Amino acid sequence: MNQSALSLLLTRASCGLLQAPAPDGEILEHILQAGLRAPDHGHLQPFQFLLAEGEGLNRLGTLLAESAKADGAADDVIERAAQLPLRAPLVITVVAKVTPHNKVPEFEQHLSAGCAVMAMQMAAQAQGFGGIWRSGPLMYSRRLHELLGLNERDQIVGFLYLGTPATSLRIPSFANSADFVRRI
Ligand SMILES: Cc1cc2nc3c(=O)[nH]c(=O)nc-3n(C[C@H](O)[C@H](O)[C@H](O)COP(=O)(O)O)c2cc1C
Repeated sequence: MNQSALSLLLTRASCGLLQAPAPDGEILEHILQAGLRAPDHGHLQPFQFLLAEGEGLNRLGTLLAESAKADGAADDVIERAAQLPLRAPLVITVVAKVTPHNKVPEFEQHLSAGCAVMAMQMAAQAQGFGGIWRSGPLMYSRRLHELLGLNERDQIVGFLYLGTPATSLRIPSFANSADFVRRI
């Protein structure tokens, strides 16, 4: 049994308080490769990872604010949108790049991209970094999709905030699996 893989699965935890440094180099490459290992029906590779760090975080913030404005948000929401990416040194906008397919519906391609988010978070944790999967109403904004150069079928499935944990990772408590299981 691969004890460390199992322990990673059992202790995966999000970390919202993140600071520099961000994962980079080989560590970041491992994270991206883990994302690309997500299950993928039909090998359609419905993944795109938009990386923002440094000035890119401000650029992403500007696009979020612009989208919020276009979507009719209140001034305080627009202001806050610009600041959102600054909560981590690296934000990966994970996009489901959907290919029309007669056997693989869009939903399955969205699921694949979602699996990539979790795999990347776990790969970050495995290498001593931390992360949190965030969404929010702008994730569904078609204006944001346009501003990011995405097409009408594409769907952002998450903003993965990554960095060095500024607090120790919470040790998750075990749920009672029986509460979630029904034998059929
Ligand atoms: C699709 C999706 C969207 C999420 N969006 C947010 C979010 O916008 N803000 C947030 O604080 N947590 C969000 N979460 C939850 C966190 O990623 C995290 O799972 C939660 O804080 C529980 O922590 P844990 O992962 O350590 O159990 C989202 C999770 C998923 C799966």
